Amino acid sequence: MKMKILMVTSESLPFVKTGGLGDVSFSLTKALNKLGIQVDLILPLYGFINIKDTKKIGEFNIFMGKKFPVELFSKKISGIRFIFVSSPVHFNRKGVYGEAKEYKDNWERFGIFSKAAADFANREKYHILHANDWQSALSLLYLRKMKSPVSRFFTIHNISYQGNFPAWTSRPLGLEEEFHPEGVEFFGKLSFLKAGIVYSEIITTVSPTHSREILTPEFGFGMEGILRKRRNDLFGVLNGIDTEVWNPKNDPLIRCSYSTENLSGKEKCKEELIKKAKIKFSPLIAMISRIAPQKGFDLLIKSLEKILALRISMIILGRGENSMLGKLKEWEKKNQQAMRVFNVFDEELAHQIIAGADIYLMPSKFEPCGLTQMYALRYGTVPVVRAVGGLNDTVDDFKFERYQSEALAETLGRAVKTFRNDKKKWENLIKKGMSRDFSWLKSAGEYVKLYQISMIRRRLWNL
Ligand code: ADP
Ligand code: GLC
Repeated sequence: MKMKILMVTSESLPFVKTGGLGDVSFSLTKALNKLGIQVDLILPLYGFINIKDTKKIGEFNIFMGKKFPVELFSKKISGIRFIFVSSPVHFNRKGVYGEAKEYKDNWERFGIFSKAAADFANREKYHILHANDWQSALSLLYLRKMKSPVSRFFTIHNISYQGNFPAWTSRPLGLEEEFHPEGVEFFGKLSFLKAGIVYSEIITTVSPTHSREILTPEFGFGMEGILRKRRNDLFGVLNGIDTEVWNPKNDPLIRCSYSTENLSGKEKCKEELIKKAKIKFSPLIAMISRIAPQKGFDLLIKSLEKILALRISMIILGRGENSMLGKLKEWEKKNQQAMRVFNVFDEELAHQIIAGADIYLMPSKFEPCGLTQMYALRYGTVPVVRAVGGLNDTVDDFKFERYQSEALAETLGRAVKTFRNDKKKWENLIKKGMSRDFSWLKSAGEYVKLYQISMIRRRLWNL
């Protein structure tokens, strides 16, 4: 019997991506299908998604205080069956989530999406519904409420985003019965993420180190107690990367290809990047990231004086919080030849920076997995990271423990010194990184094993 899984996510390439969830939803689904199990992917039909020739495959009336009609469409793209949940009043907006007023009905938007996914999984007799992050977590609880035989699997990509909403939303969401401390209540609010943790057979997060970290107050964001109760059902599976999209030997988004046998292409990529960024000093240190407290920008800003004194160049590609961005822009203004901040979301530029830079910096406060350090390794760009979460599991050299600007500056300084003084060692570091295998093969296999356990538990627990 072929295992049939419904992957439920609020982001997936090639349609929508604000961070790593968009990469992982797509590349993991692709990898699982290659392993011979059927994994279909369901996501909201955001207004900016433009697809032709979809087939209507169903409609549901969803009650959320009042009745909302929702339509489902499907189309096979890149070998994956995509299912789109259409509710124009909820999803025909410019962006995806956001803090703005425009998104204050996120509870309703993702409540409806989750309910539609649960109804669909149940109707189509999927073996497992695999929900990702808070936006799809309620689908697990809705499955339980309808006493569905579909097994419930939950992956936490980012525990700091919890989807916590005012208590009154429990009524329109139909969750008054579950609004208590053992259920979805979380410090007086209704927590979508907590629903995922409480009502799933298996919980995973995206690296082994982070699966241990989230049991502690420092990294658990208040969920550590609930997670500790479920520690026997919690697993860490390291993310893989899409080695077809991120391949320096054959990347249409960079002008020169290269490999461990011939690194001259990387030099050319660096020259192009220097021209584009109009910077002068070497080595080139890069960051590509959401500009959010998670990513350690406060630490970077504190260390910038010391770092720039090393006469290096710094390139940052990122969008996000204005206060931090403003500070970075001030430093850029004062150091025109050494610093460039690109405040855009640009996939092509991301590839060019990963390929052209010498050092990739990721001083995260916490990092469930992180993908860009793996892209960097694969492109021969040496990472300097804080030893947390997936960064600890994927990077061997140049990592620091303490969340302190001195530790960051010292470790980065060591990398710069090696780059300048020990060419042989640097080349070996480049080659070692490029030879690592970050493909999904191993991790997708781990998911398959956990899916099997999840299905068995569904039958045994019969909750
Ligand atoms: P997170 O999911 O916490 O944002 P990850 O490292 O897992 O961090 O994934 C981030 C993804 O988003 C990577 O694919 C990265 O290349 C991409 N990314 C982040 N910011 C930008 C940007 N400004 N332009 C292009 N890609 C970006
Ligand atoms: C999250 C995490 C990041 C992880 C990504 C994909 O957004 O912040 O570390 O790589 O999800 O799992």
